[in-house]
Amino acid sequence: MQKGYQLLSQSQLVTGRGSVSFLAEMGKKRAAIFYDGRVFKEKEKERVANILNKGGCECRFVADIQNEPFFGDIERALGAVREFEPDLIAAIGGGSVIDTAKAAWLFYEHPELSFEDAFKPFQIPPATGKAILAALPTTSGTGSETTCCAVFVNEKTTQKQLILGFPIVPAYAILDPDFTDTLPDVIAAHTGMDALSHAIEAAVCVASTPIVKSLAIEAALDLFDYLPDSVGADVTPEKKKTGREICHYAATIAGIAINNSSAGLVHALDQMGPYFNLPHGLVCGLLLPYTTAFHSPHDTYIKLAKRLGVAGATDTETCAALSEYLWNFNIRVGIPTCFKDLGIAQSEYMEKISDFLSGLDSSMAANLSPLKPSFSQAKEILEDAYLGNKPF
Ligand SMILES: [Fe+2]
Repeated sequence: MQKGYQLLSQSQLVTGRGSVSFLAEMGKKRAAIFYDGRVFKEKEKERVANILNKGGCECRFVADIQNEPFFGDIERALGAVREFEPDLIAAIGGGSVIDTAKAAWLFYEHPELSFEDAFKPFQIPPATGKAILAALPTTSGTGSETTCCAVFVNEKTTQKQLILGFPIVPAYAILDPDFTDTLPDVIAAHTGMDALSHAIEAAVCVASTPIVKSLAIEAALDLFDYLPDSVGADVTPEKKKTGREICHYAATIAGIAINNSSAGLVHALDQMGPYFNLPHGLVCGLLLPYTTAFHSPHDTYIKLAKRLGVAGATDTETCAALSEYLWNFNIRVGIPTCFKDLGIAQSEYMEKISDFLSGLDSSMAANLSPLKPSFSQAKEILEDAYLGNKPF
């Protein structure tokens, strides 16, 4: 994946409040819209349809994606897309909506492509130009709007499986913070912690370059500064709006950073998420202090801790202070510090640890993290994360 040069963002970024209007300026005739019906209701549909219609573009809302997508969701959405024959596929939603649109776009462009071949990493065929893919994130976390990855759950095994390949990077990432203003605080917190995990993991990834590190560190610092405003119940509406906007951009920057390096150990150890049906961002945030402690000491952690003003007398103390900062940051934004506190039965969790770690050997995220844990080290991290044992 890594060459001697990098195209930092394959997606053209369109930013600013009201930037949804850009959809009408693309000169397209038929837009198939993917959305999440829980948050994108009739009034919003009407607003977007009006914008497109005024630009001479017919639109149809083809797929309502409300869960982490299963394989079956791709097939259902694809049927509706093929029937409508769009020249623009727009995903307005969180990571699940965007990921399903990526997959449907891929199979729409390549009707001959098999499911099996689509899931072979970095082997998918290039775009044909039949339809342009645009992503308009309504949450601020997954970074899916600029990444080459789409995550699905195999309904038979409950395991996550990825489509990986640069052709599925959306041609446009339209970052309109207006979509995030009505997001419930708890979703803003979960998705924000997903973004923070991406930022910190990209910053320490062994494949990271100086420019990726810089982007990742600045995104992490913006999230540390503005996520509490973005999720606080007692924050003024104006402050919250600013917080939401900055977190929205930071999440995309963090997404660009992982797309040019890799996510890390948190994302290699997160298989309890789909098993216990936990939000991805909650799991990421919860695991982050534990994996940070495992990778400590690390130069980038020292840099971050210094920028946060929590440096200690030694490198070890400074990195421990960063883990502690992350632990307290979780409490501040409403993320539990251990799985036990979520009411998950200890016996079931401990029994399943081997299953959660079954993909560790082949995990790109683990392999590109600063230090790949052995099975017993990874098991210890997951045990600590259940019990709330601070490893720092
Ligand atoms: Fe993530």
